[in-house]
Amino acid sequence: MEQASLATKTSGNVIRCRAAVAWTTNAPLSIEEVEVDPPKAGEVRVKIIASGICGTDNHTIEGKMKTPFPVILGHEGAGVVESIGPGVTTVKPGDKVLMFPLPECRECFYCLHPEGNFCEKEDIISPTGLMLDGTSRFTCRGKKIYNIMGTSTFTEYTVVHEIAVVKIDAAAPMDTVCIMSCAVPTGFGAVFNTAQVTPGSSCVVFGLGGIGSAIVMACKASGACRIIGVDINEEKFPRARALGVTDCLNPNKLKKPVQEVVKEMTGVGVDFAFEAIGLIETMVAALKSCNRSYGVCVIMGVAPTGSQLSFDPLVLLPGRTLKSSVLGGYKTRDDIPKLVTDYVQKKINIDPLITHRLPFPKINEGFRLLREGKCIRCVLSMRP
Ligand code: APR
Ligand code: ZN
Repeated sequence: MEQASLATKTSGNVIRCRAAVAWTTNAPLSIEEVEVDPPKAGEVRVKIIASGICGTDNHTIEGKMKTPFPVILGHEGAGVVESIGPGVTTVKPGDKVLMFPLPECRECFYCLHPEGNFCEKEDIISPTGLMLDGTSRFTCRGKKIYNIMGTSTFTEYTVVHEIAVVKIDAAAPMDTVCIMSCAVPTGFGAVFNTAQVTPGSSCVVFGLGGIGSAIVMACKASGACRIIGVDINEEKFPRARALGVTDCLNPNKLKKPVQEVVKEMTGVGVDFAFEAIGLIETMVAALKSCNRSYGVCVIMGVAPTGSQLSFDPLVLLPGRTLKSSVLGGYKTRDDIPKLVTDYVQKKINIDPLITHRLPFPKINEGFRLLREGKCIRCVLSMRP
């Protein structure tokens, strides 16, 4: 009932609410009152319930991933539809939804192809920070505020395209399934879809943060018998072992390059290597860690804008495969609601990925926990 009355009170009007605005790089986010315009045709305004803090948000604050500023960050959100613009048919006010940093338009070449998920309407590769019509729905202190990847979830209300939002199981706990907007499908899909890890195989996972932990869980679920975890923060090791890592390596404490140690431990190198850090050097180390004949390396980390990945092509020649994917290759609107239902039905468990919960106004503390390596995933709750 609360949602129904909310829709009638606010639909069609500008909503004033709190949002965390990033005015510039390398500065704390500022909790401000913002104005959120009503949704235009094909758009949906969502009341955010919970949002996860992702490594990519931090890369953006640190200026490593270029996007227009000032911006409202956050792309791992769960919420309730407040109102819809003309022509919207797949969600209605009151629906529980997830929003995705990668849309699924169901019309473009990639959406129509069974193997594709990188929708042509994405705003990831060359971000504009604007809606598809080239305008913004956020204003603060008279200034236009940009969005991030068409999402922006560090706000009490946001406007997203219908193609980036999907109704989910009404029984889903929003403050947990919000991480199914990014971390969970990114990690699970890297393993199940992109690498297709096989039972009895050996794996190495570079980076044991949110994405790396989801990768570890999926490697274990796939029946990998050896899972080597690599991180420079040894505080990550006990949890990683609990999730399925069999051996932990800190590259800073090794006398040889980490790929040589992985090779010695496994004889020829692993079957599957994953990079979930976002550094060129660890991408190359991951590639060299997989066996040279049929090893598969999947890069999930996002490197700084403009950086170049280089290595001797002879590394690939014997047969190695280098791959990547966004959102784990899942078609976001088609596939991710099924993951949510699997969680509700206890077929999969994502609870160990969430180590911290904070009220939304403490967002800068959440980023501090991420930078200091104290948390896997921190979820912000919008409720007072
Ligand atoms: N070698 C090994 N581990 C490292 C190194 C390094 N040189 N540098 C950082 N790490 C570890 C950190 O200690 C941390 O545990 O990598 C992990 C990164 O985890 P998070 O900060 O939690 O980031 P996450 O959200 O998992 O994202 C990882 O994937 O989606 C991308 O943009 C995202 O590039 C980022 C990556
Ligand atoms: Zn598409």
